[in-house]
Amino acid sequence: MSLLTILPSGKTVDAAEGMTLLAAILAADETLTHKCDGKASCGTCHVFVQEGRKGLSRIAREENERLDAMVGVGSKSRLACQAKVLGTEPIKVELLGFGSGF
Ligand code: FES
Repeated sequence: MSLLTILPSGKTVDAAEGMTLLAAILAADETLTHKCDGKASCGTCHVFVQEGRKGLSRIAREENERLDAMVGVGSKSRLACQAKVLGTEPIKVELLGFGSGF
């Protein structure tokens, strides 16, 4: 279980191991567009992981390819539908106020 803090609201939620960031964010009643429903093909679930990146699953090829094709991507970028909580490290994610996906 990790403590997930969601910015900009500052809301916190417990995220179970194996849960995607997208599922945890939606469970916290936050809004995050996810047009392809977690297939790593739309990019609309793009978030910045501000803290706790080591507490998340590594970026796999599909996610990497999608991020490469998007604008506004940086070293903190993840697709929330692909990043899974691994352990107990606190995680802080920032929801982006613009749709950077496809
Ligand atoms: S929901 Fe489409 S890439 Fe995550």
